[in-house]
Amino acid sequence: MTALSVSTKTASDLPVDTLVVGSVRTDDGAALAAGHGLPRKAVVHLQAVLADLEATGAPGEAHRVVAVPGVKATSVVVAGLGDGTARTTSFGADALRDAAGHALRSVRGKKTVAVALPTPDAESVAAVADGAFAGCYLYDKAAPLAGRRARKGGTAPGAGPKVTVVSGAGQGKAVREAVSRAGVVGAARDWARDLVNTPPNLLYPQSFADAVKKRASASSAKISVSVLDEKALAKGGFGGIVGVGQGSANPPRIVTMSWSPSGAKGSVALVGKGITFDSGGLNIKPSTGMVTMKSDMAGSAAVAATVLAAAELGLPVAVTGYLCLAENMPGGGAQRPSDVVVMRDGTSVEILDTDAEGRMVLGDGICLASEKKPDWIVDIATLTGAQVVALGEEVAGVMGNDEDFRARVVAAGAASGEDSWAMPLPAALRAKLDTPTADIAHKGDRDGGMLTAAIFLGEFVGEGIPWAHIDIAGPSFNTKAARGRVPKGGTGYGVGTLVGLVEQHAGR
Ligand code: BES
Ligand code: MN
Ligand code: ZN
Repeated sequence: MTALSVSTKTASDLPVDTLVVGSVRTDDGAALAAGHGLPRKAVVHLQAVLADLEATGAPGEAHRVVAVPGVKATSVVVAGLGDGTARTTSFGADALRDAAGHALRSVRGKKTVAVALPTPDAESVAAVADGAFAGCYLYDKAAPLAGRRARKGGTAPGAGPKVTVVSGAGQGKAVREAVSRAGVVGAARDWARDLVNTPPNLLYPQSFADAVKKRASASSAKISVSVLDEKALAKGGFGGIVGVGQGSANPPRIVTMSWSPSGAKGSVALVGKGITFDSGGLNIKPSTGMVTMKSDMAGSAAVAATVLAAAELGLPVAVTGYLCLAENMPGGGAQRPSDVVVMRDGTSVEILDTDAEGRMVLGDGICLASEKKPDWIVDIATLTGAQVVALGEEVAGVMGNDEDFRARVVAAGAASGEDSWAMPLPAALRAKLDTPTADIAHKGDRDGGMLTAAIFLGEFVGEGIPWAHIDIAGPSFNTKAARGRVPKGGTGYGVGTLVGLVEQHAGR
């Protein structure tokens, strides 16, 4: 695991493998950004190299230069921050996160890296630390399945570099806390990424539950974990998740993960969709749509990581995470389109399409969360293809029963570098879920599919509890090349938003 520290030393004096500095896009090409603290001869050299490379200073650019005069580091990486001048000190948090993340990904194999981007205040130090940590991520395929590398006696890729954030804002309490928070949240987010990237033959409901227990007991914080197995789920009347899981040889689980500090200033609930593989069930998916469906548990991964982070940060709020884990498969016992199941709260639901399984497991999870009457509930789920159609692959959709709370969720996302957009739940769409056969059908037609899915979930929220639903079908899994601080594969989207929300509830 990457280690983060903070320093106010002169960057050129740091004896590291690589020093990261910024560049800006000016009318005359790339210029070194403020905050580098390099001696004049280093600046002259780097400017000449940037000119020769025809660097622009655009985001996504990273040039590595070795043997820079007057710099102790073996190499200097110049990372683009976008528009600015050589004197600009204030950059957006996302530009800093992405420049740091992109730069670190390009030198992940190094042992020590210092990052000297423009950081005039604690917020910008936090952004650099966050982005740098995120950029160091690598899914270590040796961990579960050694494969060829093990046969050849190869070694694992290493834990990632020790990263020193060079602070332009001193190293007072706010700066030190920002960097240590970035390390805790970053490690939790990396865990979420690992869970998402783990192949589905290794990560199924019981092994997911085992992984949670293992991580919780390895943590220095006190996190309790309890598991409902398929018998307990049937006995408890969780007909939604039982129905989804019954076509698989790997039976479903609901894992409850709690952080309950003494003197807590309230209690909140997080519910995650945890379909460890979504084949679609009998309404089987076409091959192109199925290949990424190991990531259909990304909501549960974000919830698990958030409870971990909240506990490790010692936040004075009770946080309970409900991981609704099932494998959606078309086995002989699988549920059929037109089956009617009864949910935890007694609502009967007509199944019209076995591929609309996420809302069934979440409905039960939201009932269970509501029983404890938390201050609010947030569910997070790779719920609909309609989310990707509406908002694309980088912006999540946020819905809910309370406009103020929904706005707080979107704001927490923006503050953590996770983009989302508030979507409405038009009352008129509720009629799409009417059916003569049961209390409610679980889906409407294609139009407004992200919204009707959320309207269905809203039916299971306890009276008077503010609730928000985050549809992360797009942003949870990056099928393209890595960009900025976002790796290919599992992104860990949601951890920043949820941790931010819990912190807000704690008054931080
Ligand atoms: N897991 C999928 C949604 C999804 C699609 C996530 C693409 C990530 C990327 C979900 O279970 C699903 O299959 N939804 C259906 C619902 C439909 C049958 C009402 C969909 O969106 O097509
Ligand atoms: Mn599905
Ligand atoms: Zn799904």
